[in-house]
Amino acid sequence: MCQNCKGNYYITTPIYYPSANLHIGHAYCTVATDAMARYKRLQGYNVKFLTGTDEHGQKIEDKAKEAGITPQQFVDNIVLGEKGVLDLWKLMNISYDRFIRTTDDYHVAAIQKIFKRMYENGDIYKGSYKGKYCKPCESFWTESQLVDGKCPDCGREVMDAEEEAYFFRLSKYADRIQDLLENTDFLEPRSRVNEMVNNFIKPGLEDLCVSRTSFTWGVPVDFDPGHVVYVWIDALFNYMTALGFENDKYDDLSAFWPADVHFVGKEIVRFHSIIWPAMLMSLDLPLPKKVYGHGWLNFNGEKMSKSRGNVVDPYLLSERFGVDALRFFLLRTFPFGSDGNFTNELLINTINVDLANVLGNLVSRTTAMAQKYFDSDLTLGGEAAELDAELKALSDEVVANYTRHMDAFQFSLGLNEAFRLIGRANKYIDETAPWVLAKSEDTKARLLSVLKNLCECIRIAAILITPVMPDTAESILNQLNVPAEGRVWDALVYESAEEKAWKTTVGAALFPRIDMEKELAALEELKAQAAKAALPAIEIEPYSEETVDFDTFCKSDFRAVKVKDCVPVKKSDKLLQFTLDDGTGTDRQILSGIAKFYKPEELIGKTLVAIVNLPPRKMMGRESCGMLLSAVHTEKGEEKLNLIMIDDAIPAGARLG
Ligand code: MSP
Repeated sequence: MCQNCKGNYYITTPIYYPSANLHIGHAYCTVATDAMARYKRLQGYNVKFLTGTDEHGQKIEDKAKEAGITPQQFVDNIVLGEKGVLDLWKLMNISYDRFIRTTDDYHVAAIQKIFKRMYENGDIYKGSYKGKYCKPCESFWTESQLVDGKCPDCGREVMDAEEEAYFFRLSKYADRIQDLLENTDFLEPRSRVNEMVNNFIKPGLEDLCVSRTSFTWGVPVDFDPGHVVYVWIDALFNYMTALGFENDKYDDLSAFWPADVHFVGKEIVRFHSIIWPAMLMSLDLPLPKKVYGHGWLNFNGEKMSKSRGNVVDPYLLSERFGVDALRFFLLRTFPFGSDGNFTNELLINTINVDLANVLGNLVSRTTAMAQKYFDSDLTLGGEAAELDAELKALSDEVVANYTRHMDAFQFSLGLNEAFRLIGRANKYIDETAPWVLAKSEDTKARLLSVLKNLCECIRIAAILITPVMPDTAESILNQLNVPAEGRVWDALVYESAEEKAWKTTVGAALFPRIDMEKELAALEELKAQAAKAALPAIEIEPYSEETVDFDTFCKSDFRAVKVKDCVPVKKSDKLLQFTLDDGTGTDRQILSGIAKFYKPEELIGKTLVAIVNLPPRKMMGRESCGMLLSAVHTEKGEEKLNLIMIDDAIPAGARLG
């Protein structure tokens, strides 16, 4: 452990499954973990914050095949590529200390050793797997766990699976796990305990299938070729291999294991609170101190998913609104243990109200008044009043409450406390009316104290928001020229205004107000553009499965025709009327529904292809004798049509075939 620090603290976020790009739901969990890591660092802990990517499994193998690349190339693109996982975490200011990829060699080798150890101690045995498998979730289910015959996690179809497989004796640990869940605070919030016990333990914990033979993209079972380790065993042990368990790459296990907390989304609580501790029990290893199952972010009331086309892009939002605003919104708005409903309106409203009106306004009013009345130089001295004691008392209360809430992972309540102080300071401006105090020399000393009390409130609040909005907090503290020792956890003590001097700076507005209507329209437009960009560049019609015999084909009479005249058909926005030279000496009339694609005048003189032995047809009261050939395809969702134009040297009437 380091000198002068409060102790070691190990916090993890679920390693992301790189089957598609990250959305705001994934960012939510990682931002929360980051805020907690920063909070603990602020308090003086020696923090290890682990994140990473969970890169094996059938879904990755399938997607890579679809994309025509290797699984390794596929995951490399999503993790390391432009706007990939690493880029996003950098943009979002995620201060992880270690990043693990489950395809890292040291991890793969460690997983093989771990699997073998459990095999050798008898907790993994060979059997035959018969049951249901949800491919998207990579989860095995028994018949009784299905909901309406579908996957209980994602609601999708499951498939029958039967193969020779290894099993982990999960059933053996049922009583110990139930005891752990019910009689300790291992799993929080408490509501998740009931869910686990009632849905999974009480119906009877069955042994878990922990190897697969139907695909190869996984950690090979080294003593039985053809088997790969079940992706969840591979994934869960990342929390320990990243510290050096069963490998020489790292050496932090004794300092940081057991983990202080694993933050996980609610749908993976089962893996973390049942399977994970059971495997650790099997290996006689200490259990993590806590698993915290946070809620889900939905979008406009619906689950976010790529297939629904409603995923919210954290890149886009960070670029438009700023990373800190987005981080703040996520943690301030949604209580961490419950589900939340993300809407753009709510995001913009939070920025306008909390950040622009309340926080931004307090900082800009205070620094502007310091400049106006004291040339930004707030010297020692002043004149205290009774009201100031109220600020100090509130600040002490806020710091205590904030700490209590943050220790319980209640970010929204913690931030609420910081904003109580900010709100109170804004009210203090109205109560003390500095612009009135500035009118007379007699009240100048009081004015000095008022401004310095405001600076002190801002300083305390800025420290409190540091874990969630690190850049904003720094910029505020810079505007107040707070020295390094005034920015630390131990400096969360409200100091008497008269005994302190401040030199302030007026900065740019921290959070300019956003025009809700305009911004919503801009976001809609961007969404439409993104949806269009996601469409395939070129789409062609599927090929016909029906065959035509040669004689039938030969009956079609294709001829070169020259356009003598072309005019739009009145009252039709689709039809063009062609007068064609077909080589017979008599003009041929053909109507064609291509007005959307061509102006009539640009076609005059062109040599086209027509099928001429179709029976005549009436369209809009006019006769059409044949059909012009064209090529059709779809480009970015838009229908495209090109008339077949041939060499003008080909005479009218030449037969094509
Ligand atoms: N690879 C596993 C975790 C293995 S940990 C040993 C996994 N990956 S994931 O990419 O599918 O999800 C990563 C995290 O994002 C999970 O905690 C999941 O709950 C979270 N979220 C994914 N969508 C979410 C929302 N819409 N809202 C909040 N969090 C959600 O699971």
